[in-house]
Amino acid sequence: MESKISILVTCLIFATAFQLLLPLSEASLKVGYYRHHNCYRAESIVKSTVRSFVRKDPGLGAGLIRMFFHDCFVRGCDASVLLDPTPANNQTEKQAIPNNPSLRGFEVIDAAKKELEKECPGVVSCADIIALAARDASFLLGNISYKIPTGRLDGRISNGAEALQFLPPPFFNLTQLEAIFASKGLSAAEMVALSGAHSIGRSHCSSFTSRLYPTIDRTMNQQFGAALRNLCPQNATVDGVVRQDFVTANKLDEQYYKNVESLTALFFSDWSLLTSPATRQQVNTYTKEPEKFKEDFANAMIKMGSIIEVLPGSPGEVRGATCRFVN
Ligand code: HEM
Ligand SMILES: *[C@@H]1O[C@H](CO)[C@@H](O)[C@H](O)[C@H]1NC(C)=O
Ligand SMILES: *[C@@H]1O[C@H](CO)[C@@H](O)[C@H](O)[C@H]1NC(C)=O
Ligand SMILES: *[C@@H]1O[C@H](CO)[C@@H](O)[C@H](O)[C@H]1NC(C)=O
Ligand SMILES: *[C@@H]1O[C@H](CO)[C@@H](O)[C@H](O)[C@H]1NC(C)=O
Repeated sequence: MESKISILVTCLIFATAFQLLLPLSEASLKVGYYRHHNCYRAESIVKSTVRSFVRKDPGLGAGLIRMFFHDCFVRGCDASVLLDPTPANNQTEKQAIPNNPSLRGFEVIDAAKKELEKECPGVVSCADIIALAARDASFLLGNISYKIPTGRLDGRISNGAEALQFLPPPFFNLTQLEAIFASKGLSAAEMVALSGAHSIGRSHCSSFTSRLYPTIDRTMNQQFGAALRNLCPQNATVDGVVRQDFVTANKLDEQYYKNVESLTALFFSDWSLLTSPATRQQVNTYTKEPEKFKEDFANAMIKMGSIIEVLPGSPGEVRGATCRFVN
């Protein structure tokens, strides 16, 4: 208890001194928080909501896992990514290039929040709904189970420029990727494990066409590149979508790492994992040890969920009836 307080005090002193976003200790988050805080069924309500949507459209599960990443990397896991534009702020994270038009699954969060508000109004934070939904999607698509601490608060600020600043674009090299993950307290090894999420879901053509035209990049399997050219014609007026993983499209599994090795992953950033001995070795290990991948993925998701950033003077809240607007 004493050490908890001293950590908090230290954080506050640092935060005030430098006006920085600082990761708080994860001590305030607890597994099963809502069981003891006025919403016994919170986790089961989220789970059944996610299940009903993901059964109909597994792509939404991919969307929810990515939503968790995009939430946590910008102002910590505070549901800032869910805030809709208002007359006072028309440049929210949601509208920024890394999220718009690609981020999906908002309707799942809306539905879960609606159910939760019926059961225990004003209790379950939207940030926790995202964290739980990503966990449930990982189970549904990958048979990956883990307990994730809850008790997060929702933020009141959403700034589109910060999404551009903190979310890595697909043309980043390994140095750049490692730096951005390190700035959020995640190691290169955790980044490699989390990248396994690119074994599900989709991508818009515009995220990788620079690797296809005018020539197929030598970092890409040439036949794969030729196939992608057919799916993503040059100068198309509509930005098409293709699946991330052409082998096991809706399974969150180690296939991603096989794709990276065979140069059949979509992004330059995916290929970049082969460019250091340590990350290349880890990719290779996961292709052979799927259970190791699942374990590391689960732990890295929990770690990502502990990114809590407190900005002095803007305390969090639990959003009311909707996750789309602050109270
Ligand atoms: C390592 C740096 C990363 C980069 C550069 C990156 C980049 C991207 C890009 C460009 C897309 C396609 C968006 C589109 O055009 O539609 C995408 C999709 C996706 N990403 Fe990442 N990502 C990274 C890490 C992660 C992490 C850490 C996760 C989660 C743990 C994740 C989960 C996903 C998922 C699930 C999709 C598919 C989304 C859908 O189908 O709706 N990514 N990523
Ligand atoms: C956002 O607001 C600014 C200033 O109020 C305005 O100039 C701009 O056109 C708005 N942008 C959008 C996309 O609505
Ligand atoms: C799911 O994972 C558990 C271990 O977490 C394992 O015992 C079980 O066989 C797996 N089920 C399937 C269908 O792969
Ligand atoms: C990655 O890109 C940055 C910025 O362009 C550059 O400084 C760095 O040397 C590159 N790293 C690698 C491994 O290519
Ligand atoms: C696409 O646009 C580029 C640049 O405007 C042009 O050089 C190229 O010929 C175009 N390709 C096709 C297939 O229209």
